[in-house]
Amino acid sequence: MKKEFRELLRERGRSAMPNVLLAAAECAPLAKTGGLADVVGTLPRSLAGLGIDARVIIPYHRCIKDKYADKVEHMFYFYAKLGWRQEYVGIEKLILDGVTVYLVDNEHYFGDKIYRGGNPEGEQYSFFCRAVLDAIPNLGYDVEVVHCNDWHTAMLPMLAHTQYRGLQQDRIKYLLTIHNIAFQGKFGFDFVQDMLGVDSRYYTPEYIELNGCADYLKAGCVFADRINTVSPSYASEIRTPYYAEGLEGILNARSAQLSGIINGIDKKVFNPHGDELIPARYDRGHLKGKAICKARLQERVGLEQRPDVPIFAMVTRMTEQKGFDLVVCVLDDMMCREDMQFMLLGSGDERFENFMRSAESRYKGKLCAYIGYNEELSHLVYAGSDFYLMPSRFEPCGLSQMIAMRYGTVPIVRETGGLKDTVTPYNRFTGEGNGFSFANYDAWEMRDTMRLAMECYKNEEIMHGLISRAMQADFGFERSAIDYARHYIWML
Ligand code: ADP
Ligand code: GLC
Repeated sequence: MKKEFRELLRERGRSAMPNVLLAAAECAPLAKTGGLADVVGTLPRSLAGLGIDARVIIPYHRCIKDKYADKVEHMFYFYAKLGWRQEYVGIEKLILDGVTVYLVDNEHYFGDKIYRGGNPEGEQYSFFCRAVLDAIPNLGYDVEVVHCNDWHTAMLPMLAHTQYRGLQQDRIKYLLTIHNIAFQGKFGFDFVQDMLGVDSRYYTPEYIELNGCADYLKAGCVFADRINTVSPSYASEIRTPYYAEGLEGILNARSAQLSGIINGIDKKVFNPHGDELIPARYDRGHLKGKAICKARLQERVGLEQRPDVPIFAMVTRMTEQKGFDLVVCVLDDMMCREDMQFMLLGSGDERFENFMRSAESRYKGKLCAYIGYNEELSHLVYAGSDFYLMPSRFEPCGLSQMIAMRYGTVPIVRETGGLKDTVTPYNRFTGEGNGFSFANYDAWEMRDTMRLAMECYKNEEIMHGLISRAMQADFGFERSAIDYARHYIWML
């Protein structure tokens, strides 16, 4: 055990690392819609390396049942009280890569979509929180810290401290990680009262109320022992009105318990040297394989077979967060004037999907818009492209730019949140940097930065240096795991 941890533990009169239960809506590779799943899937394995028995609890979603049913072991069941409802809760167990994952089974709530949207989603995750708290004493595992992730599990500390007084759930420490403050879980008071029986004295701005709604993420910010978000820059940004979506008051009030811990990526899954999902493997010193991946990508998605033209890529949820309105603004201008190719893999808002589909028909052979979610193709896009575009309006951390860099695809990002913390812009005077960045949320700034990247693409030496430095950056999860371990111990 690290000396630092031994000492921190000794100060708290104990010698063993705490047992941690991560509660979340998704966990890769079982169920994934975005980076949250990657983090919940990777962190426990890195924590195990530090001597922490970290386990995961997520809903037993349909997509997991379809693929893993024969590997899952039934543990026990009970009925949870949800207002006037008595709901079945099955607790199933799955060991995944050495990590114990508890699955909360209920066909009614988790029989189809991971997120149903609106009040139905509120019902899904109110149920999940209740089921988790009622299951904890019977897991046969002494939970000391619950690590909550986003609004879907943010009600856990409030419920524990107001409805389970004196019990194990109340004694547990709660860390809340905010992966995205744009989603807060806002519902009417009647709804929350009906689902979770929250006492009406908590419907005030000191507790759960925000702009006339009950706000689940706010409840987490009020009641969690500590709060963190997924990069130091975003931790500062969410204390300002522009980024905080109304939560700046409570986050400033709790600034002493608020920190930023940058995410990492799974270096085994994203590894150009050993990736089975790409046609040729490569590393920093041997980049021939990358050229083969580029040719395969062009062939597979119908782009002209040209090694000399730069491919700009995006693999993303298509929402405003990801800067799509900047792309909409300058894409035609760039596609008409520049010798470049554009590869998009993503899905999301209909208006952005439609715009990209119609752009594909205008620039056949130069632009591909693959609308959908495709894990396997994503690896080929990361490996086969030259530049990775991520002009986010806000970005709590961002994993895609780190994945791209690991595959030697040079990132072009807006200087916000985790993008600012992971990409060092190219400096033409000193030759330093591992990517490109621009400061303002402005389409012309983005276009000029892409043009600078294209200039550099023409110079083999500059480009080689950029690729090499991008691939050299260490984005493994070990560093983050050490930081999380510290946070868990501080709370004991
Ligand atoms: P966010 O969590 O905000 O969506 P991140 O950059 O943190 O953004 O993580 C996104 C993750 O989801 C990455 O692993 C990325 O490769 C993956 N991803 C996003 N869209 C797709 C898609 N259409 N197909 C395959 N993978 C995707
Ligand atoms: C959220 C954020 C993203 C972050 C991910 C994992 O989805 O949008 O920036 O990387 O969570 O923490």
